[in-house]
Amino acid sequence: MNSESSYISCRDVFKIYKVADLEVVALRGLELEVARGEVMAIIGASGSGKSTLLNILAGYDAPSAGLVQVGDYDLLNMSSKQIVEYRRREVGFVWQQTSRNLFPYLNAQENVELPMLLAGAGGRERRDRAIELLNLVGLGDRLSHKPAQLSGGEQQRVAIAVALGNRPSLLLADEPTGELDTETGQEILDMMATVNRELGTTIVVVTHDPAVSQSVGRAVAIRDGKTSSEIRGRVSFDRQIGGGRQDVEEFLLVDSSGRVQIPREMLDSLNIQRLVQADVEDERVRIRPSNADDEEGETR
Ligand SMILES: Nc1ncnc2c1ncn2[C@@H]1O[C@H](COP(=O)(O)OP(=O)(O)OP(=O)(O)O)[C@@H](O)[C@H]1O
Ligand SMILES: [Mg+2]
Repeated sequence: MNSESSYISCRDVFKIYKVADLEVVALRGLELEVARGEVMAIIGASGSGKSTLLNILAGYDAPSAGLVQVGDYDLLNMSSKQIVEYRRREVGFVWQQTSRNLFPYLNAQENVELPMLLAGAGGRERRDRAIELLNLVGLGDRLSHKPAQLSGGEQQRVAIAVALGNRPSLLLADEPTGELDTETGQEILDMMATVNRELGTTIVVVTHDPAVSQSVGRAVAIRDGKTSSEIRGRVSFDRQIGGGRQDVEEFLLVDSSGRVQIPREMLDSLNIQRLVQADVEDERVRIRPSNADDEEGETR
């Protein structure tokens, strides 16, 4: 995918947090392209930078350097007024913590209507849209239930409906299934696929669950603040049957400067340290441990 056709384009993005005198580099040269209308997942170990990326895409946090473009919005160069507009119109956000998404004293319908009210939609429009969205997420018969009267999975479904109220082009979800059991989590992911199909919303979902590439077209893995590899799933037969084998292929990403991050497991298994030898043979790039590493050590 080239950047001209991308809806989301992140180039060489850095995010540095300063805590007291310490600098934490949460994103280091991250690159990501997402097409309009795509559903994709971000995976990665704890602390790799997934939430940082999502918060930047949501306009909650500003990148320290790089380029972040979402549709017509340049997220590095927006006034605070434009950011508010961006958050209200362009993106919907679902948090991992079910309690963070909904107001406890409002029922499902009122929760879905609230962001529309803030965006200035009229009463009739709000009501119709809320009912339509709650039907879409399969909760048409739970309109008057308050969050405490709904299961965790149902609450997350309401949260998706809330996020979709103002017809955002982009739905961002940071581990929306993190507090749910596997089966309920799978239902939520299927729900997102439905939303994508019915409304054409572009969806980026963060997850710890490696099986998620079964539900989405591709998953991009972040390692140490950098998008490092891409996993594409190919379902060989209907997973409804159960036990269906999933052929999953993982590709390393080459960034705009030609950098490739070799996964730590591979480096460790070959004891690769500071230097490697690379050459081209049979149309392959071969990377091998270099004994210059050892020699250097000896001459020191
Ligand atoms: N507000 C902040 N101030 C300082 N450091 C932060 C802040 N937010 C995140 N970090 C640091 O940035 C790094 C990336 O954090 P992030 O929350 O993006 O990870 P994550 O991949 O979402 O992890 P998890 O899977 O545990 O949610 C971590 O080292 C974290 O400690
Ligand atoms: Mg996180």
